Amino acid sequence: MDEDSRIIVALDCDNRAAADDIVDRLGDECRFYKVGLELLTAVGPDVVTSLVARGKEVFLDLKLFEIPNSVAGAVRAAGALGASLVTVHGMGGRGIMAAAVDAARDFPALRILALTVVTSMTDEDLADIGVGNPAEEQVLRLARLADKAGCHGVIASPRDVAALRGALGAGALIVTPGVTLHGESPSEHARPGTPRAALSAGASHVVVGRTVTRATDPAAAFRLVRNSLAV
Ligand code: C5P
Repeated sequence: MDEDSRIIVALDCDNRAAADDIVDRLGDECRFYKVGLELLTAVGPDVVTSLVARGKEVFLDLKLFEIPNSVAGAVRAAGALGASLVTVHGMGGRGIMAAAVDAARDFPALRILALTVVTSMTDEDLADIGVGNPAEEQVLRLARLADKAGCHGVIASPRDVAALRGALGAGALIVTPGVTLHGESPSEHARPGTPRAALSAGASHVVVGRTVTRATDPAAAFRLVRNSLAV
């Protein structure tokens, strides 16, 4: 067994059989899975407890944006399922992030990650909702707020990782989705947006979805990602 817990595989499926099939095929090599709103809503929380029972870590990507009392309740429920990471929206402000962090204290293995600006949002989208800052500035602003609220880290696009590592220091978790392998040569692996480039820039974890889960051979694709980190 040669695990690499820096790689989190996103189980973006709409049924349990498909999720189980990927986990079975990856076997002992993959230790960390992301369960998002699609899979959770389609199949229910048993998918989380089953993964934990198999010795896996679970990043439960709840993207919480609610009143603090409801955020706290959802975090406690995630902790009771055995999740290791839960996401909360930084745009909800310090109150909801602090509520999430407080609720996680009963679960020593549970860490709270803040989402700053959703990667699909442009400067124009931010202006539409009354945010005058460009996305890059807003990401840093919300990350600093998340840090003050006690969050254990942030979700960051490959583009923002380096600035966030500088702003948050060495201890913060920086989890980076939106990474893909462009090719198999070492130089390709160092290009922006690859898992290797994200980790080199300061990410603590990368989230890989379709690159692995839609591959004809998910285990081979996972190994390709893992080997790319060692190049
Ligand atoms: O694109 P891929 O299938 O690797 O996406 C895996 C996960 O990363 C998705 O569940 C999504 O939540 C997240 N993602 C993101 N921003 C992107 C691309 C993907 O947050 N630009």
